[in-house]
Amino acid sequence: MTIKTTANALELFQAAQAAQALSYSPYSQFKVGAAIRCDDGSIHSGCNVENAAFPLSQCAEASAIGIMIGSGKTTIKEVLVLSPNDNLCPPCGGCRQKLLEFSSADTLVHMSTASGDITTVTMAELLPYSFDKSDLDRHNLEAVS
Ligand code: THU
Repeated sequence: MTIKTTANALELFQAAQAAQALSYSPYSQFKVGAAIRCDDGSIHSGCNVENAAFPLSQCAEASAIGIMIGSGKTTIKEVLVLSPNDNLCPPCGGCRQKLLEFSSADTLVHMSTASGDITTVTMAELLPYSFDKSDLDRHNLEAVS
């Protein structure tokens, strides 16, 4: 679902909660919701989608990114990941890389428990020593010089 708003963490929490309720997670029973706020204030949310062939399961963050891209938006200012319990659900390694593609070093990553206790870090803190498109750009520049 996509909501157009000037969002803060509470709005992201509510959007993630609505998405989490739709989680398809019959194998893990671990329902995750994620909500992204873009630079224009729009919010894009998604849930995890599991599969009987376990490695094909998709994380909530990836679902939210898919909705965001399908809405024509590419710049993440904030993202909230909602856990199904009272522990945080830090984005998995693959999702950190997927989020990085559309983030800046100062993009905020909110990790929320089910009851709304939120820990916030920047993208640079979440994924230090990251590999991104600037590494490819540098490589290609060096290759032609
Ligand atoms: N999961 C997410 O949706 N996001 C994460 O960052 C961590 C894990 C999901 C994938 C799977 O459906 C379930 O949680 C258990 O791993």
